[in-house]
Amino acid sequence: MITNTELERKGNQFPGPITTFSQKADTFNIASNNGVLLQITVIRDSMFRFRYATEGNFPPDFSYALDKNATHGYNHLEYQETPDTYIIKTAKLVLHIDRISLKKRIYDIDGTLINEDEAGFHWEFSYEHGSDIVKMSKHAQKMESYYGLGDKPMHFNLKGKRVENWVTDQYAFGKDQDPLYKAIPFYVGLHSDKAYGIFFDNTFRTFFDFCQERRDTTSFWAQGGEMNYYFIYGPGIDRVVSSYTDLTGKPEMPPLWALGFHQSKWSYYPENNVREVASKFRELRIPCDAIYLDIDYMDGFRCFTWNNNYFPDPKKMIDELEEDGFKTVAIIDPGIKIDKDYDIYKEALEKDYFCKRADGPLMKGKVWPGECNFPDFTNPKVREWWADLYHELIGETGVHGVWNDMNEPAVMEVPTKTFPLDVRHDYDGHPCSHRKAHNIYGMQMARATYHGVKKYTYPKRPFIITRSAYSGAQRYCSSWTGDNVATWEHLWVANQQIQRMCLSGMSFIGTDIGGFAEQPTGELFSRWVQLGVFHPFCRVHSSGDHGDQEPWSFDEEVTNIVRDYVEMRYELLPYLYTMFWEYAQDGIPMIKPLVYFDQEDHQTFYRTDEFIFGNDILVCPILEPNAQGRRMYIPRGHWYNYWSDEVVEGGKELWVDADINKIPLFVRSGAMIPKYPVQQYVGEKKIETLTLDVYYKEGKGKAKVYEDAQDGYDYKKGRFSMRSFKLTGKSNELIIQQHKEGKFVTEYDTITLKFHGLPFKVTAIELDNQLDTSIKFNGEATLEITKDFTELHLIGE
Ligand code: GLC
Repeated sequence: MITNTELERKGNQFPGPITTFSQKADTFNIASNNGVLLQITVIRDSMFRFRYATEGNFPPDFSYALDKNATHGYNHLEYQETPDTYIIKTAKLVLHIDRISLKKRIYDIDGTLINEDEAGFHWEFSYEHGSDIVKMSKHAQKMESYYGLGDKPMHFNLKGKRVENWVTDQYAFGKDQDPLYKAIPFYVGLHSDKAYGIFFDNTFRTFFDFCQERRDTTSFWAQGGEMNYYFIYGPGIDRVVSSYTDLTGKPEMPPLWALGFHQSKWSYYPENNVREVASKFRELRIPCDAIYLDIDYMDGFRCFTWNNNYFPDPKKMIDELEEDGFKTVAIIDPGIKIDKDYDIYKEALEKDYFCKRADGPLMKGKVWPGECNFPDFTNPKVREWWADLYHELIGETGVHGVWNDMNEPAVMEVPTKTFPLDVRHDYDGHPCSHRKAHNIYGMQMARATYHGVKKYTYPKRPFIITRSAYSGAQRYCSSWTGDNVATWEHLWVANQQIQRMCLSGMSFIGTDIGGFAEQPTGELFSRWVQLGVFHPFCRVHSSGDHGDQEPWSFDEEVTNIVRDYVEMRYELLPYLYTMFWEYAQDGIPMIKPLVYFDQEDHQTFYRTDEFIFGNDILVCPILEPNAQGRRMYIPRGHWYNYWSDEVVEGGKELWVDADINKIPLFVRSGAMIPKYPVQQYVGEKKIETLTLDVYYKEGKGKAKVYEDAQDGYDYKKGRFSMRSFKLTGKSNELIIQQHKEGKFVTEYDTITLKFHGLPFKVTAIELDNQLDTSIKFNGEATLEITKDFTELHLIGE
């Protein structure tokens, strides 16, 4: 543990002078005179991997985080030696390694010092664990800021904080409480307007200290395993995050319905209650695509069973809900009830699939069903078995999505809330204790679930949501932030957590809208929905024991506000889907914190409330009761107030009106926002036209619209439609060009353009270079034209 007394560094050991240095292809092997090995692999011109061993050899190289499709390769690599230093150079970076201390300095190609070891690698032998605690410390650079690390419920900029990664079930967690449900040991450092990232791929309990213990030092360490980290250069935060996401994997496209509105509660049962909730949505015309079944649908909380009293014919119910446009998502926890009459229990026992204590007996712990054993999801055979268990639930009964919960794994009535640390795991053929497997147990459960749901949902796309996650979990599933609380402070927390998760490679994320524990007021619920519709995953969920949290549980004003905002989300589905496509394709976070959006504007470093939804919509939630508006920062550039079309110039703080019906929303000038008509659920209606809200700019703008069959895998065979639009605005003309790719034919024939802020009166319209007098403005500023136009030219006076 790093403590203040560590200034003396008592008990720490350090590498000695370098004795050998050799290169083999992309890898450099360095040995020191006291047996420390450092292996440096050049993954890309902008990415190094550093791996240290203290006892002369490396254990087998294995990681759950890395994606097998990650990009490798560099354009340039050379090394030089000076009397004091070894220097490794790529096309983007220059790495210096000190011959005496093994300390590293990394410069970019312009000569800016990006990252520098302070003590560098060191370690302490822990008598408690009988193994090393591996440590790395770095000089904090002048004005350095730190971002990332998953679901930490604290201020977005981590400078001055120490955090811990040990996934934990934290019912009703508080602001600043740490650790929570996720372990994402990745952060972004920003100084000198340049950003880099560090991904410490170690699944043991890890810690990060960002100048808390010492003002000028940043350090990270683990209670076991290797010092094994990736250094990722930007200089843009966008590059850092995309490269990290490329390394740890990108998701496939979800079915479009998964981006709709979801309603959940612990629990909707019996069947009638589920049907009532669903039909109320339709009656009140509040769009909704999914309804959730929490643990009470099961027979005594036995996974993969149904309580036949509550749900006598689940298939019929699910089919009928589907006819009404609802998908059903069911919860599955890891604990398997110890019950000799329960097939799944018997099978797992027989096949030896449960986790065991180090000295032999099965790991036994209490969860909802009472005493349980727990499958070892780190064993590939167990994952395969688990995947096949979905055969009935998905393949036959027709459930559409699966919600994996309690997979930290959570164990009740023990102070540690989880397994004892001696529990053994297969770890894909690298047997280990729970100390090493804890942080990835939940991710491996979600992985098994993903494969099962995918298999039985085919030819449709799977939908999975997990509570626990480690880096790379985004390849398999979406996630939510766990058991939050219905307070205003938690609305602030929700905003931090979602921005942080998006910056940490997991964009498909949302919160329990309204709060899981306790009961929100109608006002808080309204404000939470106003924020929640701008989160990639949008679900109302609550513990159900403090009162109801359906949109109609408050008063009519609240119901109307919820309807308006959920409708807005449904209008924005093509925008949201395109955001997802950019995330799935290039690892671009769906939500961009302001510092990501404009890292050269120092005003953004400590901004936590405002964020960019996609590329062009600025959102800033109202986080207090009785507000009529708020002050907020508008980033540089010109922005249209969404509600009034008034244009403001950014780079400053502004008061923005927002009574209970409104959330401060701005659209970037030059943006073209695609919209569908409101539907009660995805696929309800034939889309007759794609609307493009065009926000005039004197200058250039661009937008993309990605579409496909909204489900299935044809998009992977080229059956998608990608429209790229370019806007060029002058004082008396506006040109919009379209370039179209992909083989998918959208069902609409026209695009309806709605112009905002046109500064001139249109006197002539040219379509694809022909004067076209047949096109008429409908009212003031709306035009409907053929969807495959290549150039639209508005000419004015
Ligand atoms: C956990 C989950 C919560 C769920 C409950 C019952 O607390 O976080 O979402 O409703 O368990 O399954």
